[in-house]
Amino acid sequence: MAKIIIKNEGISFEIPDNARLFPYLLENTSFPAGCDDGTTSICACTIIKGVENLNPKTHNEIVTLAKLNLPNSPRNRLACQIYVKKGEIELEY
Ligand code: FES
Repeated sequence: MAKIIIKNEGISFEIPDNARLFPYLLENTSFPAGCDDGTTSICACTIIKGVENLNPKTHNEIVTLAKLNLPNSPRNRLACQIYVKKGEIELEY
């Protein structure tokens, strides 16, 4: 199991290894539901810890994040595009 910490809500929960993160965020947090395909950026978040345990950015994610004028950093992600391999992930949105 992987541990997910949501810094700005002060909560944490667990998800299976190699799971897609977004359904669990919608179930356990106040994260906004959105397009679900990485095209609107409503789910933009910052990875504080555990970036090495995430999948690489998807094509849609790279294109959408580029429009936000954010630094090209592995810490800037779209939550709907994230798969968590294992370990502990801390993020804020
Ligand atoms: S839910 Fe639309 S970009 Fe993630």
